[in-house]
Amino acid sequence: MKLLLAGASGLVGSHVLRLALADERITQVTAPVRRALPLTHAKLLAPVVNYDALPEGAAWWQADAVVCTLGTTMKAAGSEAAFRRVDHDYPLAVARLARAQGTPTYVLNSAASASAQSRFFYNRVKGELEQALAQLGFASLTYARPGLIGGERGEPRPAERAAIVALSALGPLLPRSWRLYPAQNIAQAMLAAALLAQPGVHVIPAEAVNYPALKDGAWN
Ligand SMILES: NC(=O)c1ccc[n+]([C@@H]2O[C@H](COP(=O)([O-])OP(=O)(O)OC[C@H]3O[C@@H](n4cnc5c(N)ncnc54)[C@H](OP(=O)(O)O)[C@@H]3O)[C@@H](O)[C@H]2O)c1
Repeated sequence: MKLLLAGASGLVGSHVLRLALADERITQVTAPVRRALPLTHAKLLAPVVNYDALPEGAAWWQADAVVCTLGTTMKAAGSEAAFRRVDHDYPLAVARLARAQGTPTYVLNSAASASAQSRFFYNRVKGELEQALAQLGFASLTYARPGLIGGERGEPRPAERAAIVALSALGPLLPRSWRLYPAQNIAQAMLAAALLAQPGVHVIPAEAVNYPALKDGAWN
């Protein structure tokens, strides 16, 4: 299968990339990035693009599945508008272009608390994105909704780091949906959904992201 990966340089995206390149079922990975990736691979095409002006005519929008792990933080974005552009507009633009070229499957790294009705800006952006994606007519659409993501980051995120340390220490004492979500587990769940391409709209809920198992057509 041909995979289109948006966000390949990020924490979750880099795990998706590594897993996809090692997976024999995946023959080609296209990973549009804003800065060149520090690796090459026979299966990998990583065009450097401007997400504000994506190359509409590129042949690689036609794939078997999109995995999207794009995102930023309020601190890095600097404003709500800039945050929304990265966390909502870019994933939606990727979806529209891929869909227009016939790509049937899309898997989004959303968030545990995503809700278009939320009072909180972050949750609302994620929820509105999920709703907008559902209008595009993908044959298979999956939202992975992890809680706090664990893993080594290049940039310091002190508040997130403190929460990660606390959640790691409490580990097994916590309910499943409160535990830390290792980036690799999220990547595995997303790639599984992309390969499965189960028809319809699906949610991998927080409590299932670390232990994804399909039962009676739903992620449990
Ligand atoms: N952090 C958490 O605990 C948490 C919890 C639940 C859900 N999530 C969501 O999960 C998703 C993935 O998280 P992550 O931790 O893997 O994110 P990450 O490590 O910050 O990676 C984000 C990706 O988006 C790209 N990106 C950011 N700004 C961009 C821009 N202006 N133009 C083009 N690309 C841009 C980054 O590219 P560069 O490498 O070029 O910056 C990177 O590939 C995000 O949507 C996040 O909101 C996070």
